[in-house]
Amino acid sequence: MKYITIAIDGPGAAGKSTVAKEVARRLNYTYIDTGAMYRCLALYVLENQIDYQDETKLVQAVDCLDIQLSNNGKVFLNNKDVTQNIRSSAVTNLVSRVSSPRCVREKFVRLQQDLAKNKQGVVMDGRDIGTVVLPHADLKIFQVASSSVRAKRRYEENLTKGIHTSLDVLEKEIKERDYLDTNKPFGALKKAQDAIELDTSYLTIEEVVQIILNYAKDLIK
Ligand code: DC
Repeated sequence: MKYITIAIDGPGAAGKSTVAKEVARRLNYTYIDTGAMYRCLALYVLENQIDYQDETKLVQAVDCLDIQLSNNGKVFLNNKDVTQNIRSSAVTNLVSRVSSPRCVREKFVRLQQDLAKNKQGVVMDGRDIGTVVLPHADLKIFQVASSSVRAKRRYEENLTKGIHTSLDVLEKEIKERDYLDTNKPFGALKKAQDAIELDTSYLTIEEVVQIILNYAKDLIK
């Protein structure tokens, strides 16, 4: 059996993590959520009141992180389960900023490339996986959805957690993060030339998973 590497990129709240985790589970592959790694840095910066505009301090903070990702989506930072904490709105609103500097990106990209090495099949999701981290990935998906659909999905997800934020505010936050993610000097959100664009605005999670699995199966057989 041939094992392949699958890169899934796209804007925030497009459902990448949910889809990537499920594709990895069905193929029995390793799932690597790179957004969770940058979120760990943002959480560490917040908890330790680090001046994130000071790049020296930021890069020192990266060296203090021991991040463990489990295949079922659990995230451990310095041996503490931070799976929920890294999804807080404080972290979400800070993460684009701490993930921008070149020194941070270089360290994380190397870490992500090491994580993908010698694995029997990998699904990695993020913003720059197909372009920078795994430019030779066998299958590249660029997963998108309109900002209004993404805001609605986030709204419904928040309700299940008892969080009430208006749709307008959520869509505004999503657009701001899109802008920051797309205009980063390093590791900006960009579709790789050889990526397949998948607009999931009107697709269910299961439909998206099936489409990706069909592409993968063509490459594996
Ligand atoms: O996918 P996510 O929302 O969990 O990502 C969190 C943030 O991390 C997002 O604002 C952009 C950044 N990120 C990045 O710069 N590069 C990646 N490969 C993944 C995420």
